Amino acid sequence: MFTLQTERLILRDFQPGDFEAFFATTNDPEYQQFYAEEEMTRPFWQKIFTHILEGTAETPRASYQLAICLPDGTLIGTGGVRLEDAANQQASFGCAIGRPFWGHGYATEACRTLFDFAFEQLNIHRIYADTKAKNTRARALAEHLGMQLDGILRQTQFFRGEWWDTAIYSILKNEWKSATDKRR
Ligand SMILES: CC(C)(COP(=O)(O)OP(=O)(O)OC[C@H]1O[C@@H](n2cnc3c(N)ncnc32)[C@H](O)[C@@H]1OP(=O)(O)O)[C@@H](O)C(=O)NCCC(=O)NCCS
Repeated sequence: MFTLQTERLILRDFQPGDFEAFFATTNDPEYQQFYAEEEMTRPFWQKIFTHILEGTAETPRASYQLAICLPDGTLIGTGGVRLEDAANQQASFGCAIGRPFWGHGYATEACRTLFDFAFEQLNIHRIYADTKAKNTRARALAEHLGMQLDGILRQTQFFRGEWWDTAIYSILKNEWKSATDKRR
């Protein structure tokens, strides 16, 4: 099983028995506010979960969407990098943590290790992420990771009675390397 270790966390491949714990991390109104209602149903997450499990068996492997766990085994969320365009070494990235575990720096810690892995082992040139422009916590995470705002796409989705802008962030391999060198 693919595993990465950080100071306080274990990042590992999802296992079939993880679904309930994974689904439970999404069950909070603050977590859900930036997702459309239909993206918050059990069938929706079941489909995502099946897709994640299929990704662990791919060869060559393009997706590392990992479970984020505490050392006692509690599954607190997920973080992942996905190779979207191999020829141009472009990967997308996403992270989500259950509401009880926000505010501890767990997402930042997990994603730093994921970025090290993506840039050093997968030879990615650029990692990008998109989030709702109003999702200030997701934007703060991107900024803690040293990502830059590529731009705002206006009114890309309509749900919960309003139009939502999308913020696109990215970081390049050389930017990650110089930020990492400064931290050491
Ligand atoms: C996006 C998301 C993962 C961010 O979670 P988070 O807990 O705010 O992010 P971090 O783990 O980086 O924690 C940062 C916070 O922990 C604090 N912190 C505490 N101990 C820390 C430590 N040892 N190291 C770093 N930060 C620490 C920071 O000061 C910061 O606090 P603040 O929010 O009061 O400024 C979370 O809001 C989430 O899962 N949301 C729902 C899903 C979602 O929208 N995902 C994004 C989809 S694009």
